Amino acid sequence: MIRPFQGMAPKLGSRNFIADNALVLGDVELGDDSSIWFNCVVRGDVNYVRIGARTNIQDMSCIHVTNGKWPTLIGDEVSIAHNVMLHGCSLHNGVLVGMSTTIMDGAVIGEGCLVAAGSLVREGFQAPPHTLVAGWPAMVKKDLSEDQQQLVASIWSRYVRYKEAYFQDGWPMAEAPVLTEPRPGFNAGHPYP
Ligand SMILES: CC(C)(COP(=O)(O)OP(=O)(O)OC[C@H]1O[C@@H](n2cnc3c(N)ncnc32)[C@H](O)[C@@H]1OP(=O)(O)O)[C@@H](O)C(=O)NCCC(=O)NCCS
Repeated sequence: MIRPFQGMAPKLGSRNFIADNALVLGDVELGDDSSIWFNCVVRGDVNYVRIGARTNIQDMSCIHVTNGKWPTLIGDEVSIAHNVMLHGCSLHNGVLVGMSTTIMDGAVIGEGCLVAAGSLVREGFQAPPHTLVAGWPAMVKKDLSEDQQQLVASIWSRYVRYKEAYFQDGWPMAEAPVLTEPRPGFNAGHPYP
């Protein structure tokens, strides 16, 4: 489901896959070749969400924002594994967030980081680029090993292939709703609810 909210409709790139039981709502933008998988929620109703190109949001993940304070910003070639909670945080390009991780308001994850599965990243946490961040609560553990860097780089490209395989299998490309009177988004002055 791709739905407008208060005159703000999601803006999509080219060749996006959005599973039919995912919800993408409101002030959300998605780059080319990105995908949002089954049962995800991406809710741009009280602030905005930006997702770059060739990024995948895997099944059961939830992306939300904090009213008037924290949008959620996700770069290019990012992988969000299954059952991840992202709330009001920023992820630079090339990040992998492992399964069942939570990242909270104001946290910033640097380029190419791996946030290990099952981690809890606290509010305002800053992760330097290309590091392994892990634990409950998460800490910076070390620079990524070569194997870990390969893992991070392999998943986003695999998911670009996966969504193309779904298109070949007859699943539809995502289409954004067209509004007759669209309103500008939160970062262009839309009042916070
Ligand atoms: C990080 C990961 C790759 C393990 O790598 P690894 O090479 O075995 O880990 P390392 O040996 O480098 O661990 C370094 C430190 O991080 C800790 N650590 C590693 N994975 C951890 C995890 N998931 N949770 C908590 N701590 C973790 C280790 O205990 C170690 O801590 P220490 O230095 O205090 O002893 C793995 O745990 C992970 O999260 N994989 C991602 C899986 C995933 O979600 N894939 C996406 C599917 S689509």
